[in-house]
Amino acid sequence: MIGALIALALAYRAPPETAALKPGPDVEVAERHCLACHSADYITTQPPKVAAGFWQASVTKMVAVFGAPIPANDQAKIVAYLNAAYREP
Ligand code: HEC
Repeated sequence: MIGALIALALAYRAPPETAALKPGPDVEVAERHCLACHSADYITTQPPKVAAGFWQASVTKMVAVFGAPIPANDQAKIVAYLNAAYREP
């Protein structure tokens, strides 16, 4: 009985990571800065048809309102990444 429980525990596999960002240029910059306070869901659950300035405004808000310490050149990379990966024109 205990052996079976141990076997079950060893057979456990974590569920697939669903809250990851899509691959793309500079995804690692976005991961480094944008997953520090909250999960990727906050990004991946936004509707695809967001307005043109949405991601720029979001990144600015994270920095200005919530105090995310993101250097300006990384902010620009993240905005470009988000517009490519999470915005349908
Ligand atoms: C310093 C902490 C912090 C960092 C770093 C951060 N966020 Fe946030 N983010 C927040 C907080 C706080 C909220 C609001 C949470 C709530 O309302 O429950 C939020 C919410 C959001 C939302 C939901 C919509 C909104 O505006 O409330 C999006 C989209 C988002 N963040 C994107 C990003 C992106 C993109 C980055 C990387 C550039 C980022 N966040 C980095 C703190 C952070």
